[in-house]
Formats: sequence, structure tokens, C-alpha cells
Amino acid sequence: MTDAAVVHIEREDGVAVILVDNPPVNALGEAVRRGLVEAIAEIEADAGIVAAVLACAGRSFIAGADIREFGKPPVPPFLPDVVAAIENCAKPVAAAIHGTALGGGLELALGCHYRVLKADARVGLPEVTLGIIPGAGGTQRLPRLAGFAAAIDMVTSGRRVGAAEAVEHGLADLVVDDDPIGAAVAFVRERAEEGGPHPVTAALPVPEFSEAEFAKAEAAVAKKARGQLSPLRALRSIRNVARMDFAEGMRREREIFLELVASDQAAALRYAFFAEREVGKVPGLDGVAPRPVARIAIIGAGTMGSGIAVSCLDAGFEVTVIETGAEALEKGRGRVTGLYDGMVQRGRIDAAERQRRLGRAAFAVGLEAAGIADLVIEAVFEDMGLKREIFGKLDAVMPEGAVLATNTSYLDVDDIARATGRPESVVGLHFFSPANVMKLLEVVRGAVTAPDVLATAMAVARRLGKVAVVSGVCDGFIGNRILATYRKQSDFLVEEGALPEEIDAAMLEYGYPMGPYAVADLAGLDISWANRKRLAATRDPRERYVTVADRLCEMGRFGRKTGAGWYGYASDRNGAPDPLVREVIEAASAAAGVTRRKIGADEIRSRILAAVVNEAAKVLAEGIAARALDIDMVMVNGYGYPRWRGGPLFEADRRGLKVVLAEVEAACAAGGFGWQPAPLLVELAEKGGTFADYSAGVRL
Ligand code: 3HC
Ligand code: NAI
Repeated sequence: MTDAAVVHIEREDGVAVILVDNPPVNALGEAVRRGLVEAIAEIEADAGIVAAVLACAGRSFIAGADIREFGKPPVPPFLPDVVAAIENCAKPVAAAIHGTALGGGLELALGCHYRVLKADARVGLPEVTLGIIPGAGGTQRLPRLAGFAAAIDMVTSGRRVGAAEAVEHGLADLVVDDDPIGAAVAFVRERAEEGGPHPVTAALPVPEFSEAEFAKAEAAVAKKARGQLSPLRALRSIRNVARMDFAEGMRREREIFLELVASDQAAALRYAFFAEREVGKVPGLDGVAPRPVARIAIIGAGTMGSGIAVSCLDAGFEVTVIETGAEALEKGRGRVTGLYDGMVQRGRIDAAERQRRLGRAAFAVGLEAAGIADLVIEAVFEDMGLKREIFGKLDAVMPEGAVLATNTSYLDVDDIARATGRPESVVGLHFFSPANVMKLLEVVRGAVTAPDVLATAMAVARRLGKVAVVSGVCDGFIGNRILATYRKQSDFLVEEGALPEEIDAAMLEYGYPMGPYAVADLAGLDISWANRKRLAATRDPRERYVTVADRLCEMGRFGRKTGAGWYGYASDRNGAPDPLVREVIEAASAAAGVTRRKIGADEIRSRILAAVVNEAAKVLAEGIAARALDIDMVMVNGYGYPRWRGGPLFEADRRGLKVVLAEVEAACAAGGFGWQPAPLLVELAEKGGTFADYSAGVRL
């Protein structure tokens, strides 16, 4: 008997269809694994069956192991044994794949003798993104089928490939537009009638790949991994294919899998996986229906507006792009089409797709053109007067029920909302640059934003494929507010003796893709200079203030775009330490009466990260973020915080808040006036609590 609930067998004239039915994504939980083993045994025993098809009900083929079971003791039957049972079945088995076949799902398919794919199906081994490696033969079977280069690429990146690429790599025997199960039944019946032998992936000859090619791949993977263990371990396991027989390779793969599944990195990446889905479930929004959105108007087609337009067009929305005059509009159109040209050049889409997407775009001068939209996103200059003027006018232009959004980075969304007669329809949609690429979207909930307006923003964000996190209103919202303390603490370290390149190196070593000074040069120093000038009038003179960035701006050093900033770009386009910057720094230290000292990478990291955690704790306690996971997902998806560390609050919980508090005290002492340990952190540290508990216990 198979497990009736999750695996059934249907018979189609001598071919058995093993149907997995385990919503939502047919994950390979214990019941499915058991059901599959029983189904294969039944098929082996039934003389009336000549072949089998492995297929799934619902929206997708098997999306992999059940991630919820990781971290718990493994329960038999183990997945490698399930794959082996299929591979060793005396009757041919074909996988019929629709939706996505991921992780253990693809490993099962690799164990099948044949694979039939629906044309829009995608397959991949995303295990490294969960901090593990494929644990059911993926690293041993894929190279045998696809060759080493393709296997290394797919396994170490976790990339999903479409049907065309799957064919190229030998992963698909047949691609069909419709009815993959019917096609697989016919296909495998023919193969059975031919009589075999049927291809067994494990028995395929090992392809050629030289030691030098492995070494080159290893260097490339190590560079990209930035401290994450799983991609290199995956490569090591793939390399075993060339060094040992299948059985031994499988044994080693399992060893590495079990070691990694219990690692801190895997726990952090699992947390990130679920947290990314959890952020979309906003406390209090259950059952609130979003308003329908078909057309989106975007006001301002500068850096952000053009990227937002592309993001919306990519997601299938009708878009109207609005500018102030004909010339600005042409420039904006140029930016939008330029982004699509780039995609075509890089082979991401073809020319016909570019035309289809641009065909959904209209370009217009004047706010009146926004009137036909269901949602309007304002992305003009960061100027409160201008934004209020626009929102005031929108009141007259927009139909009732339209959602009015602003992309402001720092300004008070409530203030902007008050410029309209319908502040409940106003919400912040804070995209990150480049808006069509960056995953993060902060959805800023104003004091009176209506629940269905927030729900609409979240629904649109989901369609855009963004990780949308709800933030309350404060200067800089969740992300830029925390970033400001990160930057300030970095500047303190510079004034005390560290050099920008030392700070950047320390943060790179932690796993950030770039250090704060390289990022500043990339973003442009003038933007934060303007922001500092805006805040200067309200800054308490007792606050510690480091003048180096202002001096650099006064010298016209705005970063990469001017060929100089914290680094010089004349000799090295990636930036090189500049003696002039060092002079400015040393002068600033002397003027502040600070005796410079050598500061090690550990102290740099400890101080900067403590500042981040401390501000995050304040953001949480103030209810600007509802849960610790919201803050973690902002930092991971928008600010380069290493995903394999989960996020600053997850990492703080892991390390223990007592230890973290001691570091925060040191960072605050260096900050001086205005820097205090967050009361929430102090309280949790004293009670032995965690940020995760706080979010679960108090806010939800
Ligand atoms: N295990 C447990 N739950 C899973 C899951 C999995 N592998 N994959 C998805 N889910 C859950 C999600 O948490 C979500 O639950 P919720 O509704 O309670 O929030 C629900 O299924 C739907 O998921 P999504 O919201 O992500 O749905 P989408 O349609 O947007 O995406 C997907 C579907 C592409 C399958 C995506 O969920 C995904 O990428 N899943 C993870 C795939 C993966 O990493 N597989 C490898 C697992 S490791 C493995 O197989 C080890 C093996 O080598 C031994
Ligand atoms: P930008 O200067 O590149 O573009 C602004 C555009 O708005 C210009 O093309 C201008 O012609 C247009 N514009 C001005 N007044 C207008 C009006 N009345 N009607 C229609 N169009 C008008 O500015 P950028 O960088 O795109 O920033 C826009 C907004 O997005 C700002 O609020 C900024 O703070 C925010 N933001 C910027 C980010 C960035 O990295 N640049 C990141 C996230 C948010």
C-alpha cells in the first residue's frame, strides 16, 4: 500500500503514473519518501506494469527536501535510498516535470531513466543557497549527465535553468508544450517496448575535466562565496566524481551534507528562506483584500523612476511614465529603453520580448496622465516642497480608490500624505537602486495608511518579485536609519586611526560584498553630504561629528563619478588608497585632538556591527519594524549583510546578547553623546532573552 494521502499510483494501460500530491510544492517529507519507496516496490511486483512515470499534482514538480525537517534527526527512508530504488527499478521510469524540479526533486529526476519537461519548467539544485550541498546524489549524477563545467556552474550557484538549457546539458529527453504526463507515458511506453537497456545515470562514464580546470573553478567559486562554506564543499563533492567510484562518492556526499545541515550557516540560510516569506505576512493584515492594480503611473524618470518603470513592466503591469517636459521625458525614455537594451545585450531577453515589455509603456508630460492609473509612484527629487506640491495636485487628478506612493529615501511620509485630502491612500514604496535589480522594497506605512492600501502595496511588491518589508515612519526608515549609524561608527574609527581601506577589508572579510567606503564612492558622496547639511541645523553640537567626508566633498571628491572620493580612481579603476585622503584624515584627527592608533580588523568589525545591532534594537522597540526578521531581511536584501549569517539580529541572538551588549557598550562609549545601548537590548541581555523571542512574544 502506498501512502494514500501524498503518493498515489494511477495505471494507464500498463504504465504506472506515480503521482506525488503534497501541497503546496510537493516537498519530499517523510511520508512522500515512504510513499515513493512503496510505489516502486509495487511497480516492481506488478507483472501488468511495464514502465512508470514519476509526476506531481498541483503547481509544480517536487521542490526538494522538506526544509522544515532539516535541523531535526533524519528519518528513514533516506532520500538517496529512494533515488536508488527508482534508478535500480527493473522497469523504465520517466520523470514528467512541470513547474520547478528543485534540489531533491531534481535528484529524483536524475535517478529516473528518462526526463520529459514542460517547456516552461525550470530545474536546479539550489541547496548551496540553504547552506548545504545536494544530499541525494546531485553532485554525483549531474556531472555524469551534464559534464563537469555545467554541473559546477549549476550546483555552486544554485541557479535554475529552463528547458532549453536542460536539453543542452542532457537533462531532458523530451520537451513538450503541454501535458508532460501524457507525453511521458507515451515516451516511456515506447522505451519499454524497445526493451532497453535503459540509461542509468550513476553508471554513465565520467566526463573529462583536468586538475587545472578544477583548480580554476575552485578559485572562482571561493571568490564568489565570500566566506560561505557550501559552494566550495559542493565543488569538493563534485570533484570526487573524478577521483572515486560512484558508491564512495555518494558516501562522501552524504557526509558533507550531514555536516553542513547541522552548521550555523545552514541554520542562518534556512532562517533567511523562511523569513523572506514571513515578511510578506504582515501582522494585522490577514484577510484584507488588496485593491486591483493594472496600470501604474511613475512620476519622474530619473535613476529611480526609470528602474521602477522597468521593474513594473517586467512584471506585466501597464505603465505610464511622467516627466516635467519634452526633453526630460526623452531622457527618461532613453533610460528605460537603455535598461532593456542592456538586458538584450546580456542575453537576458530577446528583442521581441524587449518590444513586448516596452509596448506596455506610455510616456507623457504632466501629472494629468497619471489619472488612468490605479497606483502612482512618485520618484522626483528628494525635496519635501516639491513632493507635497505633487501630492496636492494628485488629489485632483487621481480617481477615487487609487493608491498614492512615494519613493522618498528619508522624508516624512506622513507629511507628504497630509498634502492630500486622502492621507489614508498614501504609502511609501522605497525601492533600492538599481530598482529593477535589487530585491528589497521597504513599504512605508504612514500613521493613517489604510490596511487595504498597505495590502495593495504588498500585493504589487509580490508581483514585482520583491522582498517587501513593512516599515514605520522615521528618518531613513529601517534600512537607511541603521546604515547611518554604521557609517557614523566607521567614521569614528577612521578618526581614531583606521584607514578606509582597512575598514573596507574588515567588512569584506565578514562577508559583505563591499566595504562602506567603496559603497560610498559608488553611490556618490554628494547625496549624503546634502543630507548632512539638511540635518545640520538640528544636530546637537555635543554630538561627535567627523568632518572627513565634508572635506572630501568640498574638494569636489564625490566618488567614482568624479574620479576621486575616499579612494582615487586615476591609476586603478577599482580605486586605490590615496595619500591625499590620508592627509585629510590625519588633519581631522589632529583637529579633533585624537591620537591615532592602530586598530585591528576584529575591533573594527566589533564596533561597526555592534552599532548596527544597537540601532536595529531601537528600530524594533519603537515598532518601526514589527519583528526582528523584518530588520534582518532589510539588511540582507538591501544592504549586503551576508545572507549566510541570517541578519544582524539573528547573528546577535546566536552569539548571545550578553556578549553583544558588551560590544555595544564599547561602541557607544566611542560615540559619546547621544549613543546609548538600546534599552531593549539591555533588557533582553539581562533576562537571557532573544530578539526572535521578542518579536514572537510581544509584537505578533
Ligand atoms: N520545504 C518546505 N517548505 C517549502 C519548501 C521546501 N522545500 N519550498 C517551499 N516551501 C513552502 C514555503 O515556505 C511556503 O510556505 P508558506 O505558504 O507557509 O509560506 C510555500 O511552500 C510556498 O512557497 P513560496 O511562497 O516560495 O512559493 P513560490 O511559488 O513563490 O515558489 C518554489 C515555489 C520555487 C518551490 C520556492 O518555494 C522555492 O524555491 N523553494 C525552495 C526550493 C529548494 O530550495 N529546494 C531544495 C531543498 S534542499 C534539498 O532538496 C536537499 C536534498 O538535496 C537532499
Ligand atoms: P533623479 O534626479 O535621478 O530623478 C528625478 C527625476 O524627477 C528627474 O528626471 C526630474 O526631471 C523628475 N522630476 C522632477 N520634478 C518633476 C515633476 N514635477 N514631475 C515629473 N517629474 C519630475 O533622482 P533619483 O535618484 O531617481 O531619486 C528620486 C527619488 O527616489 C528621491 O526621492 C530619492 O530620494 C529616492 N531614492 C533614490 C535612490 C537612489 O539611489 N538614487 C534610492 C531610493 C530612493
